[in-house]
Formats: sequence, C-alpha cells, structure tokens
Amino acid sequence: MALILALLSTTLLLFFFTSSTANALSLNHYDKTCPEVESIVAKTVEKATKKDKTIPATLLRMHFHDCFIRGCDASVLLYSKGNNKAEKDGPANLSLHGFYVIESAKKQIEAVCPGVVSCADVLAFAARDSVVLSGGPTWNVPKGRKDGRISKASETIKLLPSPAFNISQLKQSFSLRGLSTDDIVALLGGHTLGFAHCSSFQNRIRNFNATHDIDPTMHPSFAASLRNVCPINNKNKYAGVKMDPSSTTFDNTHYKLILQGKTLFASDQALLSNPKAKNLVYKFASSKQSFYKAFVNSMIKMSSLNGGQEIRKDCRVVN
Ligand code: HEM
Ligand SMILES: *[C@@H]1O[C@H](CO)[C@@H](O)[C@H](O)[C@H]1NC(C)=O
Ligand SMILES: *[C@@H]1O[C@H](CO)[C@@H](O)[C@H](O)[C@H]1NC(C)=O
Ligand SMILES: *[C@@H]1O[C@H](CO)[C@@H](O)[C@H](O)[C@H]1NC(C)=O
Repeated sequence: MALILALLSTTLLLFFFTSSTANALSLNHYDKTCPEVESIVAKTVEKATKKDKTIPATLLRMHFHDCFIRGCDASVLLYSKGNNKAEKDGPANLSLHGFYVIESAKKQIEAVCPGVVSCADVLAFAARDSVVLSGGPTWNVPKGRKDGRISKASETIKLLPSPAFNISQLKQSFSLRGLSTDDIVALLGGHTLGFAHCSSFQNRIRNFNATHDIDPTMHPSFAASLRNVCPINNKNKYAGVKMDPSSTTFDNTHYKLILQGKTLFASDQALLSNPKAKNLVYKFASSKQSFYKAFVNSMIKMSSLNGGQEIRKDCRVVN
C-alpha cells in the first residue's frame, strides 16, 4: 500500500514537473511587459516588514510550501471555496500568515500592468526580498511561472515534509522534486529565520521513544529550556520559540546550532546522520559566504518548479 502510494505520488509529481517545462522561465520575462514589477514587490515587502518583523520569515516559508505542493503555482494563496478546503486552511497553516502582503503587491501590479504577472512570480520575488531584507544574499529570480487552479488542504499533510523526518525520508521527499542532498542542506538554512510552535518539536522533548524521554541528539540544557516554554498540558497554542537567537537575521547560525544539538526539528538535526550532509553542515557553519552561495543556487532550483496554467487576476481566487 505504502509502495503504491509512493509510486502514485511520484507519477503525479513527475507529471506536474514535466508539464511545467512548458512554462520556460527566463530572467527578462517582464522587461517589456512590466518593468516595474520587482520594485513594487520589494517596496511592499519592505513596508510590511517595518510594521511587522515576522513578515520575511513567513513569506520565505510560504514560497517553500507553494513550491512543494503542485510546483510554485501560488496554490498556497487560494482561499477555500464552497466544499473545497484550500491549502492555507490545512493543518500546516499554523504560522503561515502575511498573505495580505502578496495580495497587496499584486493589486498594485494589476493597476500598472494588468493580466501579465502571475501570483506565483510575486511570491517568488517576495521570498527573495525577504532574505535580502533580513541581511541575506540577493539573486535574480527566474520568472514566467503560471498560477494553478487547484488547492487542497489534504495535500499539505501528504506533500510537505514533516519536522520528524529522518534523512532517508528527507532525501525521498526532495528527490521527487529534483532536489539533491546538497539542496536539502542549503535550503534548511532558511530555518535561520522565524519562529516555531511547540507542536512542531514536542515529540522530541517528552516521551520521545521507548528508551529515551528526550531525543538523545538534543542538547540536555536546550531540551530543558524547551520544556519550560512548552509545559505538559500546554494551553497556549501560540507558545513556541525563535528558530535561532538571531531569528530576524539571515545568517549561518542555524548550522552552528545543529552542530551543538540545539536545533528544534529532528529533520534539521538529521543532517548529521548522513556523511555528505554532515560535511556541508560543517562547511556552512564555518563560512557564511559558502552557505549564501549554495542557498541561492538551491533556491533558484526549488523556485523553478512550476505547474500552473493561468495568470490569476486576484491571488485569492482562480479566474
Ligand atoms: C524538510 C523540510 C522542511 C521542514 C520539515 C520544515 C518544517 C518547518 C516547521 C515545522 C516550521 C515551524 C512551523 C510552526 O511551528 O509554526 C517551519 C518554519 C519555517 N520554515 Fe521550514 N521546513 C522545511 C523546509 C524549509 C525550507 C526549504 C524553507 C525555506 C527555504 C523553510 C523556511 C521556514 C521558515 C522561514 C520558517 C519560519 C516561519 C515563521 O516564522 O513564520 N523551511 N518549518
Ligand atoms: C488554519 O486551519 C484551520 C483548520 O484546519 C482553520 O480553522 C484556521 O482558520 C486556519 N488558519 C488560518 C490562519 O488560515
Ligand atoms: C526513516 O524512517 C522510516 C519510516 O519511519 C524508516 O522506515 C527508516 O528505516 C528510517 N531510516 C533511517 C535511516 O533511520
Ligand atoms: C530511541 O532513539 C534513540 C536515538 O535515535 C535510539 O538510539 C534508540 O534505539 C531508540 N529506542 C527505541 C526503543 O526505538
């Protein structure tokens, strides 16, 4: 059964990504049709960030969620309608917010160049701008994505990797999207930004398994501090901690924390259980520049997965 499911999802994903090659991306896609698009997005993200420091982290994560479900096709932006519960109302939505930033940028874009810029491209620009605003590297985003017409809450659980994944599960999930072990290590550096709720790591700090109450790969004092923030019978569903102490700065701190056993998710800690991944963690922990270079390279790879069909007028609804 599991095998059939795996094969089925592989076929599905292959279908999306082969059909996606029809939308060839390019760097100059909007040069003639909407030259102002990237400055509109950058200004909108910057303005929103001035009011709310959590915006860059959520937009970077939103782009990742978008790309892993049906390719980067803005399916994450669609609202639930009628009987259809959309991705954003799925179980993984707890910390996805800031949709208004993308909606607002798109509205401004429609006013100057209607019907040419996809919501998927707006989100890809916003993710890049979020990294830049947080002090990270910049890059040219390939453009020309199309927006999709389908968004299902049930697909978030099926298609997004879990923070409890081990290295083989991570490799499986990323390879279905044409992403390598090197890409996994580089992209997980995105966890230098933002916040995680107790529910995302509570499996590691109590009743871990039959022999260990606490995940032995976690530093004991770090586990103790997490237990304080996330008590038994925790009533506060918003309780949680910053991803790293410099959670609004895009740097390589996350790799240093992994080496100290002070990272939140088993899936991040799991990078040390593969020799190739472990070498890269050491490399990125000691050189921010090599992390930046690898991150940019892998972001372009991840954000080039596309599967859409149309240019949505309003990011919240299909045309
Ligand atoms: C194996 C892959 C991944 C897993 C299992 C994973 C899991 C998670 C989880 C559980 C959270 C916390 C959610 C919460 O408690 O509210 C989170 C947050 C976050 N993730 Fe990931 N993630 C993965 C990959 C990525 C990638 C590739 C990026 C971007 C390059 C990314 C960027 C972020 C950011 C920025 C946050 C903070 C969000 C915020 O503060 O609003 N993640 N991730
Ligand atoms: C998240 O999903 C739940 C149900 O799955 C829904 O009640 C809630 O409104 C959603 N939250 C956001 C911010 O969309
Ligand atoms: C990873 O988890 C899967 C599913 O629980 C398990 O079958 C597999 O043996 C694990 N692999 C490693 C390397 O721990
Ligand atoms: C519990 O987890 C640890 C660390 O991953 C492992 O060494 C141990 O064998 C596990 N115990 C059981 C009963 O699965």
